[in-house]
Amino acid sequence: MALLSEVVIRDFRNISDQRLKFARNLNVIVGRNGSGKSSLLEAVSVLGTGKAFTGATASDFVAKGCQSSMVTGTVEFAGCRVAMGVEKTRSATICRVDGQAVRSASSLAAYMPLVSLDAQMFQMAANAPAYRRGILDRTLFHVEQGYLVLFQRYFRALQNRNQLIRRSSKDDELRYWTEEFVTQGEELDRLRRKCVDRLNANLRMYVDLAALGDVSLVYAAGWREGTSLADALRESRDREQFLGATTVGPHRAGLKILLNGFPVKQTTSRGQSKLIACLIAEAQVRALENNGGESPLILVDDLCAELDRDSQERSLTLLLQENRQVFITAIYGDDLTIPSSSYDVRKFHVKHGVFSVA
Ligand SMILES: Nc1ncnc2c1ncn2[C@@H]1O[C@H](COP(=O)(O)OP(=O)(O)OP(=O)(O)O)[C@@H](O)[C@H]1O
Ligand SMILES: [Mg+2]
Repeated sequence: MALLSEVVIRDFRNISDQRLKFARNLNVIVGRNGSGKSSLLEAVSVLGTGKAFTGATASDFVAKGCQSSMVTGTVEFAGCRVAMGVEKTRSATICRVDGQAVRSASSLAAYMPLVSLDAQMFQMAANAPAYRRGILDRTLFHVEQGYLVLFQRYFRALQNRNQLIRRSSKDDELRYWTEEFVTQGEELDRLRRKCVDRLNANLRMYVDLAALGDVSLVYAAGWREGTSLADALRESRDREQFLGATTVGPHRAGLKILLNGFPVKQTTSRGQSKLIACLIAEAQVRALENNGGESPLILVDDLCAELDRDSQERSLTLLLQENRQVFITAIYGDDLTIPSSSYDVRKFHVKHGVFSVA
């Protein structure tokens, strides 16, 4: 498992200078509204991905009045200790692993994979389709070598194709980018379907523990079922010329979440949606583990709100399995039920960006 044993955070939102040592399993961050709980999770997310999980940019999180934010950490990974660091100014990101600059932030994920559960994930059923598709892509970036390159090639072909359609081009260039679009698109589709199968198999394993009923994912490719992508493009030619954009393909794919056969959006309460999000995150984590990878860190922002004690315990049991390292935030941490006394647990209180071990 990847283990973040320590972080140092400087000038990140309201955290000016903090060094924190973490427990191997569960780290609970407790504090009032606006104290700095989510900021800590965001800082960890920046260390692991170069980005904040909420989508906040450096202009949002570099502390007011400062030029840059810095997050460094010690990660135990595959039996080695690795020093990682990310410095963010409003215009640049510098990532380092063991003192050496690494070119892209995606190299960080190789040392510290992480899965985040935040308000967006908890409302995933109501979110835009792109967010749910992203669940598959974020899993695949970790489990399929080369997925990032495939993904980038597909979107480059899509962009080029769209430009040529807008120019009403009918020449070799459009033919070239259409072929590239179809090749990368069909491969993307194949891998996403495989990912959905894996996640569904994982979801079935813990459905009893979540005590919700059957949760499953249904993927729709983004073009007519039973047709090749090349044929679907031919069928949509008039429409794409009218709209000036490619109207079929994996960028239009859908992912439905079903509870007992019904779409989650219409049938679940907020607490149930939260448990479903935990179950799906667990399925993602297990997909990484089954692929021979290290267990990722799991970040959960505001787990307890809307969950009764039983659901809190179930969700923590789900996420903590296999000795994973989990970080959760809570406004009140006193009534939290820790599923097993064998877990290494540390609770932090935070006030105005200053953390103390409870
Ligand atoms: N760039 C910034 N510079 C300084 N302070 C900031 C910056 N961005 C956000 N803050 C402040 O940091 C504080 C902590 O925010 P954070 O989102 O971590 O709170 P929280 O403990 O998660 O609260 P809640 O319980 O409401 O979710 C807030 O008061 C916020 O206004
Ligand atoms: Mg918060």
